[in-house]
Amino acid sequence: MATSEQAIARYESATEEQLEDLKTLVRIPSVSFPGFDAARVRESAEATARLLTARGFENVRLLEVPGAHPYVFGEWLRANGRPTVLLYAHHDVQPAGEEAKWRTPPFEPTMGTDGRLYGRGAADDKAGIVVHTAALQAWLKAGEPPVNLKIIVEGEEEAGSDHLGEFLRTYKHLVQADAIVLTDTGNFETGLPSITTALRGIVVITVEVRALAQSLHSGMWGGPVPDPTLALCRMIAAASNPDGSIAIPGMCDRVRPLTDAERADIRALPTDDEQFRKQAGLLEGVELLGGRPPWEQNWRQPSLAVNAIQASSRKDARNIINESAWARVGVRLVPDMDREETVRLLTEHFKKSAPWGVHVEVQLDGAAGWWYTDPSHPAFQAAKRALEKGYDHKAVFMGCGGSIPFVEPFATELGGVPALLIGVEDPYTNAHSENESVHLGDLVKATRSAIYIYEELSAVLGKPAK
Ligand code: BES
Ligand code: MN
Ligand code: MN
Repeated sequence: MATSEQAIARYESATEEQLEDLKTLVRIPSVSFPGFDAARVRESAEATARLLTARGFENVRLLEVPGAHPYVFGEWLRANGRPTVLLYAHHDVQPAGEEAKWRTPPFEPTMGTDGRLYGRGAADDKAGIVVHTAALQAWLKAGEPPVNLKIIVEGEEEAGSDHLGEFLRTYKHLVQADAIVLTDTGNFETGLPSITTALRGIVVITVEVRALAQSLHSGMWGGPVPDPTLALCRMIAAASNPDGSIAIPGMCDRVRPLTDAERADIRALPTDDEQFRKQAGLLEGVELLGGRPPWEQNWRQPSLAVNAIQASSRKDARNIINESAWARVGVRLVPDMDREETVRLLTEHFKKSAPWGVHVEVQLDGAAGWWYTDPSHPAFQAAKRALEKGYDHKAVFMGCGGSIPFVEPFATELGGVPALLIGVEDPYTNAHSENESVHLGDLVKATRSAIYIYEELSAVLGKPAK
């Protein structure tokens, strides 16, 4: 068996190759949303499979579920009698957004003068894939890794992981492990290694309001005729309080208050309101909402966002009352909110608050539960040690306002094994937005940490999975 120091030495000479691997993946526009070319997601799965094989995973194959983009699976199971770690990342990406806002083409990975590589998926989450492949390769060049490994690279994370349940039913015999290591979150600050111990959940709906057989001249008909866009705006406005919080009765009743210790941990993180405003890119004079420290608000309170709203368009805007209006609305869930109850309350709100007898259709567009873990299992301290060696910096625990649908069902299916969430997204990554990027210094540090984590976990995980 090799030592982590030997593996690290082998990695140091392979960072260029890892960067090329990342660029190869970023060039494939693997957008998993409906309406985008599914063939490119399959191409990305195939490229990911080739990479897993090239860097030492065995029995690599695509795992299919009807209607889902392909998952990629691989394993390395030669560490007899030792624990097994399940690795996770996703190879699909968000749509590019507005191409005109990109300073470099989204699917042409481009090095900036700031030490960051730009491109859609460069951080979220193609970097997460190459962290795992470079870590295994380094161990195999040095000798043998001290743990067994399985890897799942999902193809539909950004589209809401709608087939996770079906995937688990079909392939649960393949995924048994003693711990999960996911590289799909980030660091509290560039260079500050972080382990994420909480994720928010999400419920997304679309609402369509209709009032007319066809759009009308707003002068000829306006006044007696209800405007569906105005109706929709009133319904959305009624879902929120003046301070931006959710006003839907009952929706926030189950929100779990923070313990004093949790609150103190968040307050101890190195940031302040000014820093948060800068990182989020808030314009001068725009207020911070919630009245709590912003990261406490983001990680532990629900929030409502209007992702898109449509009635006519800028190009076609003219003096009309539109026949219909449409919006996509999302609510982020926190402990101990109930996913089904939130779906029901949100749907009811939009049905009940509709004024003037307009017709309302609400559709569920996706839902995922929140996840919260107590980091007292020794695996968390092991991961912390690995990160501290990899980054040469003290590590912190943090929450996350985003969601990863995979985590809760898999951690549960595997019997509550520790799930260690690490990654290279940072406050400047711009994931999902234009000009997404990854900090290459942190990519290297995260990979070094991933190398150390095998050794640290093999020491604390004890008896292997059946
Ligand atoms: N990698 C993100 C999750 C994340 C968000 C990590 C913020 C760190 C900070 C993941 O790819 C993601 O975007 N998840 C979606 C899930 C949704 C489609 C169900 C999200 O949070 O919107
Ligand atoms: Mn991601
Ligand atoms: Mn994402």
